[in-house]
Amino acid sequence: MSEALSALFTPLRIGDITVKNRLAMAPMTRQRSTLDGVPTDLNVEHYRQRATAGLIVSEGIYPSAMGKGYLFTPGLHTDAQVTGWRRVTEAVHGEGGAIFGQIMHVGRLADPLMLDGAQPIGASAVQPDPTARHYTVTCPRPKRPYPEPRALSHAEVLGVIDDFAQSAVLAKRAGFDGVEIHAASGYLPMQFLSTNSNLRTDAWGGSVEKRAAFLLACVDAMVAATSPGFVAVKLSPGWSFHNVFDDDPVATYSYVVRQLSARGIAYLELGDYAVGWDVYGTLRPLFEGPAMFVAGFTQPTAAAAVHDGRADMIAFGQAYIANPDLANRYEHSLKLNRPEVATYYTQGAEGYTDYPVYADADPDALQPVDAAPIPISPATTG
Ligand SMILES: Cc1cc2nc3c(=O)[nH]c(=O)nc-3n(C[C@H](O)[C@H](O)[C@H](O)COP(=O)(O)O)c2cc1C
Repeated sequence: MSEALSALFTPLRIGDITVKNRLAMAPMTRQRSTLDGVPTDLNVEHYRQRATAGLIVSEGIYPSAMGKGYLFTPGLHTDAQVTGWRRVTEAVHGEGGAIFGQIMHVGRLADPLMLDGAQPIGASAVQPDPTARHYTVTCPRPKRPYPEPRALSHAEVLGVIDDFAQSAVLAKRAGFDGVEIHAASGYLPMQFLSTNSNLRTDAWGGSVEKRAAFLLACVDAMVAATSPGFVAVKLSPGWSFHNVFDDDPVATYSYVVRQLSARGIAYLELGDYAVGWDVYGTLRPLFEGPAMFVAGFTQPTAAAAVHDGRADMIAFGQAYIANPDLANRYEHSLKLNRPEVATYYTQGAEGYTDYPVYADADPDALQPVDAAPIPISPATTG
């Protein structure tokens, strides 16, 4: 094994745990839970199969009924959901793995069909562009324009922050090693951060500090309920997915990352979705803890990033959909299964728990170990 590649297979301390290698499974919504948001046997098996990753970050999990955006996605606010997740975390730990739960509140991207008829909530009453194409593609939501959301009152903002804190408590009860706040991809924390979706003039909008206040209050509340090492954050600086836009993303995210660094959280997951400026080079130096990079990495580019000290961990999305034994394949430079986009958001075992390990794979169907993932665009991500 080359020196660069061996850098991927060294342990790392993140938060309250030590992970066995620098490979993370990126958080991925897959719609295989029950309609009540309870993880199923399929979820247990899917995550168990992938436990040789240093860290699994779960699919997005809603912290409250109002945070749900898609059918068959899991939650973490009822006893049945906690019990379901406990089965997942026990399976991952049984295989020697580690798992953080990603807390995802979709905010204005919900639909009354998902909310018992209620109007979705957002930082402000700003409807995502109804002509944007992403609501008609593979994203698992009703195929119609996003409705106009209702702006949260000050008291309601505090209530949502409490929901995030409570989800950290329940994550601990469910056996997770930590939680990751989904503050990327245009979901609720990013709706507060972004200048086009946050028009508030109170304590939660206006200046960079006030737009960042919601995310940082969630972090503080979750840390107070658990510990700094139990809490992580994912950011996709400058990405306009789901119709969020920032007038000055470098200023916004430089502030946010410095603030997260001061809080000593477990790690920062940073996604560079080709936004035209150097996300990693600009922001990584501002964060003192472990940095996980995500989006578009291959075996050699991941090894180089960790070996050169740019990143501490690399998260792989689509490569982990298709290769349950990705760590073994990368360690021994073995060929890869191809991911099937058509089954990313379907239900059932197909495309979820039936990808073979290397020894069982058809050699003719494999692609090179350095094959790049499909570029993530509004058409393919949740
Ligand atoms: C099917 C699918 C579902 C996704 N769902 C989520 C999600 O729930 N939370 C999240 O933060 N990112 C989500 N993403 C983005 C991935 O975490 C990752 O950032 C992206 O796939 C880029 O990595 P890759 O190029 O290695 O695939 C999803 C991506 C895919 C393909």
